[in-house]
Amino acid sequence: MTAEVAAFDAGAFRKALGSFATGVTIITTRDAAGEPVGLTVNSFNSVSLNPPLVLWSLANNAMSLPAFRDAEYWAVHILSSDQEDLSTRFAKRGENKFADLELETGSGGIPLLPGCSARFQCRTASSYQGGDHLIFIGEVVAFDHYDNAPLVFHGGRYAHATQRLANKPGEPYLAGSFGEDFLGYLLGRSHFRFFSRIRPHLSEAGLSDEEFYVLSAMTLKPQMTSSDLDKLTAGVLDHCCEQTLTTLIDRHLLLRETDAAGAVCFRLTERGRELALKLISVAKAVESQVLAGLGPDEDTVLKSLLNQLLGVLDPDVGSLWHPDGEAKLAQRNG
Ligand SMILES: Cc1cc2nc3c(=O)[nH]c(=O)nc-3n(C[C@H](O)[C@H](O)[C@H](O)COP(=O)(O)O)c2cc1C
Repeated sequence: MTAEVAAFDAGAFRKALGSFATGVTIITTRDAAGEPVGLTVNSFNSVSLNPPLVLWSLANNAMSLPAFRDAEYWAVHILSSDQEDLSTRFAKRGENKFADLELETGSGGIPLLPGCSARFQCRTASSYQGGDHLIFIGEVVAFDHYDNAPLVFHGGRYAHATQRLANKPGEPYLAGSFGEDFLGYLLGRSHFRFFSRIRPHLSEAGLSDEEFYVLSAMTLKPQMTSSDLDKLTAGVLDHCCEQTLTTLIDRHLLLRETDAAGAVCFRLTERGRELALKLISVAKAVESQVLAGLGPDEDTVLKSLLNQLLGVLDPDVGSLWHPDGEAKLAQRNG
């Protein structure tokens, strides 16, 4: 869609600019009184390698404008993927943004923040008025680079950067057959291969996959009613739940009891709790081994997408994990 200059809508313009994915930075300096000043900025860009120059632009109405206009030095922090909260804090206007932060000191005494992906200390080389922003060009006098995945901003929201696969998934041998990128294949094979690393530990404890599922799910709450368990197992263990419960009770891993209202409910025995926690720690170790094979931040992306997928396939599942989940769910479903 083409927007004519005459009918220029500010919101639409901003939205169109938002399709340019950027990193996120915090730029810091000190004001005339020596107080640290900083703000979140995504207009940062590289300008020149030799001499080493970078640029960014600052809104004319920013409270930090006088400090940056008068400062000789400032520092650009390229934020890492786990610094979203810091970005939000520095996007607020003029508040005490540095409270409780551990700072290092750079050229000319400028405050430096730790934990970012890269950090450039700069001396103002020139500045230009550009419409409602002041453009700063800085000469880089020192820099640090850390191996942290960067935070990304796209379409007005924070995002993740992940590398694309070098090779495209293979085409199916038979036209119309499943390809290598069929979701069912990817999920199914990943599930089987992942569990094949956990299953030897389950066998050693004499547990089936289903028994482990119920045992570990029982660690979510001290006591579960039949309806809690029905929700937990719906669509996963529909047919073997009763048998699974009986086996766990026979093995003294689970107790069947009656709550104050007279409803049947279940509780882990001490032995059941110990075994569940031991196997969960084994499963978490397997998770760490497997995720170590992915690139930086790709584990977060994978989990975020799988959570979104679960939201589509099993919209009620969130209520199992959060104490106030039922209320949230009821609110969402109106
Ligand atoms: C992702 C993101 C990018 C931003 N980029 C800029 C920018 O390039 N220039 C700017 O002046 N403000 C930018 N802002 C807005 C400032 O961070 C915000 O106005 C802040 O309150 C300014 O602080 P100050 O008024 O204390 O100087 C950005 C905000 C966000 C969330």
